[in-house]
Amino acid sequence: MFSNKAVKATLFGSLLVLAGLMPLQASAACQFVSTKDGSPLPVKVAEDDTPEAKQFIETCINPYTKIFAADPEKAKQGKRKFAYYSCTQCHGANAGGQTAVSIIDDRWQYAKHDTDKGMFETIAGGTNMGMMAWHKQVTNNPEMVPTDDILKIIGWLRASYQGGGDKPWLK
Ligand code: HEC
Repeated sequence: MFSNKAVKATLFGSLLVLAGLMPLQASAACQFVSTKDGSPLPVKVAEDDTPEAKQFIETCINPYTKIFAADPEKAKQGKRKFAYYSCTQCHGANAGGQTAVSIIDDRWQYAKHDTDKGMFETIAGGTNMGMMAWHKQVTNNPEMVPTDDILKIIGWLRASYQGGGDKPWLK
């Protein structure tokens, strides 16, 4: 039989969980680093973040990538954001390259761009070679881009991919 003490401890534990004082499991949030210098990127869950953005910050997995790959209609959400933030001016309307590189071929500027986390780090925090930082938390500018919009853009870029080989982002 359970000892009285064990039952009490269990009850107390459940109460703490109910009260939200004790996390159900320790959270290991994704650690983002700058493409410029490898320093930590200050991207955290924000109060107004979508469930998809929260999931990405916890797991490094972009939930839109698989959804958009399966449904071109949904992928258009990312294309609209890409135009809205004028990414088109340098990368072209379909991201195939203009004054700046194509983002839908298999020539990555940085090897890590074959993961959604790596591509997110470059869009969020910029590079030393002409790509500016876009994330509102990184730039400290509320007018700039929230996590969810960057994820939708990445999801659309993956769905538009024209290169060959493996697609590690679908794994
Ligand atoms: C002013 C021009 C300019 C704009 C606007 C711009 N970019 Fe870039 N982008 C660049 C340049 C230049 C590079 C190459 C950077 C490097 O090699 O370090 C680049 C690189 C990238 C890469 C990596 C490409 C690769 O093949 O590995 C991604 C992803 C990217 N940009 C996404 C975006 C998104 C999303 C936006 C809009 C939010 C955007 N860019 C807006 C100039 C721009």
